[in-house]
Amino acid sequence: MGAQPAVRGSYWITTFGCQMNKADSERMAGILETMGYAPGSDEHSADLVLYNTCTIRDNAEQKVYSYLGRQAQRKRLNPHLTLVVAGCVAQQEGEALLRRVPELDLVMGPQHANRLGTLLEQVELGQQVVATGEHHILEDLTTPRRDSGSCAWVNVIYGCNERCTYCVVPAVRGKEQSRLPEAIRLEIEGLAAQGFKEITLLGQNIDAYGRDLPGITPEGRRQHTLTDLLHHIHGVEGIERIRFATSHPRYFTERLIDACADLSKVCEHFHIPFQSGDNDVLKAMARGYTVERYRRIIERIRVRMPEASISADVIVGFPGETDAQFRHTLDLIEEIGFDLVNTAAYSPRPGTPAADWPGQLSETVKVERLQELNALVERTARARSARYLGRVEEVLVEGANPKNPGQLMGRTRTNRLTFFPDEGQGLGALVPVRIEETRSFSLSGRSLAPALRH
Ligand code: SAH
Ligand code: SF4
Ligand code: F3S
Repeated sequence: MGAQPAVRGSYWITTFGCQMNKADSERMAGILETMGYAPGSDEHSADLVLYNTCTIRDNAEQKVYSYLGRQAQRKRLNPHLTLVVAGCVAQQEGEALLRRVPELDLVMGPQHANRLGTLLEQVELGQQVVATGEHHILEDLTTPRRDSGSCAWVNVIYGCNERCTYCVVPAVRGKEQSRLPEAIRLEIEGLAAQGFKEITLLGQNIDAYGRDLPGITPEGRRQHTLTDLLHHIHGVEGIERIRFATSHPRYFTERLIDACADLSKVCEHFHIPFQSGDNDVLKAMARGYTVERYRRIIERIRVRMPEASISADVIVGFPGETDAQFRHTLDLIEEIGFDLVNTAAYSPRPGTPAADWPGQLSETVKVERLQELNALVERTARARSARYLGRVEEVLVEGANPKNPGQLMGRTRTNRLTFFPDEGQGLGALVPVRIEETRSFSLSGRSLAPALRH
């Protein structure tokens, strides 16, 4: 037996925000366990509490302050409690967070996630630590503690070089940094050996993958692109499904669409945020594409993969957005028929250009638009779900339905959540399920034995 690390107590992590934060939290949990921390059962009794925060909208940021208030009180009674704020609020606020919550031990930006161990060692020496400097992200050598046993996130590019005028991400996540294809493939091989069946490649702008890596092909194109990466990892045995997110319409290429159609493990689901259905608003957002280009991408996907599901993000109430411009967004949603759309009312973020523009809309208008939009999104999602009725879909088992332990839960290749009776298929099984009931965002059915294998 190898040497056991010192027992340091229990930890608790609460994660806000996007998949990037979820992936960072899994790596940080892995680091804590390597250091001798054990998963705690309760946020209010753990010896180390870490909040991995999000600042994409004001309400996301405010949430963390209320959590921190309670922990600060606990720390005053128990000085041995270690309090950590990681993620995007930490990066944005830095030292200011210590002034606001002096009980904090460690404030660390997302680029420092892999350094949690070293930073905590400084805390153990009695320092209060702020780590928010621009940092080259090193490969993490510990094993992340993954929440799921069948589907895993794999970071491929950190940061974002775009400058959408509403968005804090470039300020808090820093410049684009791509991981090397070899390191990515090694990680995926490791995941396959542990029994994972599905991987999702992650990046804020995943189409930018490889832009910062050296290398040009003899034909004069970039050597490392997302398309090349998909080819590079497709052969990993044991991995049955490959997804990627988030795609940017500006960089989404035909070559990529062809690769998705040709590579059997790449799932027919695309998350391509369009943000607005109006060209003038898109221009003010500095998104760098038009509605026409967006339509062409979707058409091309549907020519090659007619069953593909399409999801997106959209913002309503951007400064200066007129009612007619908002209607263009509704029209696009109706026309494309999205399977899912994440919707948000515009929230002015500190340090972003649009926050200072005239023409800010009232909360009332934003909320009205959001409600109208959500009703439409629900309706199109329901219509898209209806097409599954009576079909047999391959579902990858992710676990038990938390609301009904007699049922298993998983996703179709097109990413629809699906429930069916548990007949002992087990985690990671690929089960053919006949769909008997459809709802806006989920399906139910019955399995047809035996389990499918690719
Ligand atoms: N990189 C992705 C998304 C990153 S943030 C992309 O380019 O699409 C996730 C989503 O949050 C965005 O797609 C956008 O819809 C929303 N969002 C970002 N900034 C926002 C803001 N200031 N107010 C409201 N929604 C915002
Ligand atoms: Fe933000 Fe735009 Fe980068 Fe997406 S592409 S993270 S919206 S700046
Ligand atoms: Fe939020 Fe940071 Fe992700 S601001 S959406 S957690 S990149």
